[in-house]
This record gives sequence, C-alpha cells and structure tokens, in this order.
Amino acid sequence: MTSDAYSRIQLAASVLREHFDGREPRAALVLGSALGPFAEAVIDAVSVPFDEIPHVRSPTAQGHAGRFVAGTVRNLPVLVMSGRLHAYEGWSLEDVTFPIRVIAALGIETIVLTNAAGGVDLSLAAGDLMVIEDHLNLTGIHPLTGPNDERLGPRFPDMTNAYDPELREMFYVAAAKIGLTLRGGVYAGLSGPSYETPAEVRMLRAVGAHAVGMSTVHEAIVARHSGLRLAGISCITNAAAGESSSPLSHTEVMNTALRSAEAFQALLEGFCEKLAS
Ligand code: HPA
Repeated sequence: MTSDAYSRIQLAASVLREHFDGREPRAALVLGSALGPFAEAVIDAVSVPFDEIPHVRSPTAQGHAGRFVAGTVRNLPVLVMSGRLHAYEGWSLEDVTFPIRVIAALGIETIVLTNAAGGVDLSLAAGDLMVIEDHLNLTGIHPLTGPNDERLGPRFPDMTNAYDPELREMFYVAAAKIGLTLRGGVYAGLSGPSYETPAEVRMLRAVGAHAVGMSTVHEAIVARHSGLRLAGISCITNAAAGESSSPLSHTEVMNTALRSAEAFQALLEGFCEKLAS
C-alpha cells in the first residue's frame, strides 16, 4: 500500500458518488467472467464506466465490461461492478483491489464476490453454483504486503469466518426458495493465466479445495481488511483439468457461465431480497 493510496481512494469514491444522484448502495456485487448480464437486473440504474473514475483501471480480460452500475435489485440499493481486474493481466494487487477499497470508502457494508471457477471436487459439475465457505490464497502474492495504513484497516486482519456465515445462510435460504441446489465449498485462488495441470488439480483436491479460479482471493482479503461483510459465489463452468477428455478453453468457461446466467441471476436476486428485508 503506497502512502498516498488513501487520498486516491477517497477521490475515486467521491467522483463515483457524484454519479449516484442520491442513490445510497448498501451492498456491492462484483460480477465474474461472463456473469455480467446480471447488471441488466438492476432497476433505476446509472452506469459509470471504470475509466470515468480516477485511478480505477480498465479490465482487459474478455467477458469483463468495466463499469459500475448503481441502482436497485429487489428493493436493495446496490452497486454492481461489472468486470474485474486480475493480477494475470499485469496489474499490481493495489490496482486489482482498488475498486474494493472504493466500495468500502463509499460506506457500503456488504460485498458479494462472484467468479467463474473450475470444479475440483468430483461431485461438482459444470453449471453448478457454489457458495464460497472459505478460500486458499495459492497465488503466492498478498494484497496487504508493504506498510499498513491503519485508516484502511488493521495490520493483521482476522480471516476466521471471512465469508460471513449469516450471508452464506441467506444464500442457502434464497436457493431453497427457488428450488436450486446450492453447493458449498473452498475456493482456491491461483494466479493463472494458464489453467492448472492435472497434477495441480490433484494437489488442490488433497489440500481441501472444491473449486479453483484466478480471482477473488485478493479482493476478499482486502474486503475483510476494510471491514466489509463478505460473501462469495462461484459459478462452476467446467470440471478442473484432468477430469475431462477435452482441453479447457476460455470459450467453454464463458459459454457455461452464460448458460448458468438465469440460475445465477435468480439466486442473486433472492439474496438481495433477503438482505433488503
Ligand atoms: N481453472 C482456473 N480458473 C478457472 C477455471 C479453471 O478450471 N474455470 C474457470 N475459471
């Protein structure tokens, strides 16, 4: 964390707030690869491209739009972040997690991180949705490395129950209400951008991972450092490497995420309804 990060965060938050026109989002939803269509569910929406906000970088990854959408979902005032930044694009972790800092600086209390992920657990199939119960940061890098600015959070944030048990329960209740089977599990974050080798996937299974992806863990750590209530949802887009005879491809990941869009949207909307009540 560089010393003037705090003022950059405050500036970005105040510029973004100007676009809200009185809207006061209570929850932020970060949309993963090809999960962007959810942004269409936002009512009374105002859309702000990332590049209109100072110090927010624009995503280069395919399937990531790069805009904030403020509005309402099922009576819950929300801020949707459609498109995210990944370390594999070459961004620093300060850049990757900057929007999370901005979300916290806006006074938003709750954040839901979503992603596309490979199923490591053999019982997870393409199209399944998984509540993240916990994560493994296996990227080899950490977003809180360097001097700590106490205005942003503590030096040694606790990561017990990082994924809020109450929010997780709300997701299960929302899923049951729409007859959706929702799985729960541990998300392993790896740096990518290659997919894993079959040997790596066997290792992940051995260390207790259920799903694997290339995002989320750094944002999750910064969310907790910032005092945000955190939840996470993985859309399982493929069986992890070694479990299928066909090679992994980004096209397959995108197509499955798009096919799951309806269930994903219904689940998130149900969650918003519960959080609003
Ligand atoms: N591995 C890593 N990231 C992913 C995968 C995967 O199998 N699927 C979607 N994102």
